[in-house]
Amino acid sequence: MSNEFNGKTAIISGAAGGIGLALAEALGQQGMNIVMGDIDIQALAVSRQALLDKGINVLACELDVTDYKQWQDVVSRAKEAYGKVHMVVNNAGVGGIPGKIEDTEHATWRWVMDVNVMGVLYGAQACVPAIKEHSEGGWVINVASMAGMLGMPYAGAYCASKAAVVSMTESWAVELAPHNIHVSALCPAFVKTRIHESHRNRQEKYAVAPTERQDKKKLQAGANAAALAVESGIPVNVLAERVLEALASKQTYIYTHPNYRKVTSGRSKAIDKAFVDAQESPVVGHLIDEEIVTF
Ligand SMILES: NC(=O)c1ccc[n+]([C@@H]2O[C@H](COP(=O)([O-])OP(=O)(O)OC[C@H]3O[C@@H](n4cnc5c(N)ncnc54)[C@H](O)[C@@H]3O)[C@@H](O)[C@H]2O)c1
Repeated sequence: MSNEFNGKTAIISGAAGGIGLALAEALGQQGMNIVMGDIDIQALAVSRQALLDKGINVLACELDVTDYKQWQDVVSRAKEAYGKVHMVVNNAGVGGIPGKIEDTEHATWRWVMDVNVMGVLYGAQACVPAIKEHSEGGWVINVASMAGMLGMPYAGAYCASKAAVVSMTESWAVELAPHNIHVSALCPAFVKTRIHESHRNRQEKYAVAPTERQDKKKLQAGANAAALAVESGIPVNVLAERVLEALASKQTYIYTHPNYRKVTSGRSKAIDKAFVDAQESPVVGHLIDEEIVTF
């Protein structure tokens, strides 16, 4: 098989189901060795077997992305099995619990930020040195979301976490370009997975104190709305095909829902308009003539 992925190794977090599993299968079919990590070891065993049955080289590792030590172990095991690491797909993520600002527990914020933000950071910190070790280059693919491109009511924690992932991607894309490591943020809108049931894998350390717990009725209403939206999403195999297509043209932002352009362009226009207001300001308008500092 002649393509840029064949014979290389990808580590994919949250690969036991949903988007992670679809990407594992698509990349495996391109000839990559797949190292799948997930917190859900039962689902992981089933998915590992499904990939093996399709003739894909697979190593399955228990991985809670909020534990840096576990990430380091996965990288060691990947190198032992396949020699080198070329790609990390920071996919594991949780949807949190939709709710008002005052109703969303601190433990829920910590869970969402730890899995969705620290999990991505730990994945990069553990894998990037292994990718730099050889001179073949590679990829860091961070699974963000359309939620990282715009704020949404009742989803502050999820949107904040995904905006952080977009921002880390933009920073790392510039930092890692000289190493021939391509960095992308995958930003889907709704995809048909089990993201609305993320609480199934919520770790004990993020348990909510009874005094903090949200009203059950409000919780159910938010959960129903999220389930409906996710159920109407695109199939995971379409998303995976789109990712391969976008990687071939080395895009930094990978979109899967072109119909959301009108939403993000509204945001871009509002940001641009705020610059015009600042330019016209008697207080700061003169700064327009000063040099721009970048790194
Ligand atoms: N489904 C959507 O509509 C949608 C849209 C945009 C972005 N995303 C993002 O896609 C990614 C994958 O989600 P999905 O939709 O496939 O959901 P999913 O719930 O079907 O799959 C998530 C996987 O991550 C695993 N996981 C959860 N917590 C983990 C942890 N601490 N450590 C390791 N693994 C863990 C789960 O066991 C599961 O296998 C997430 O980052 C999500 O935010 C999803």
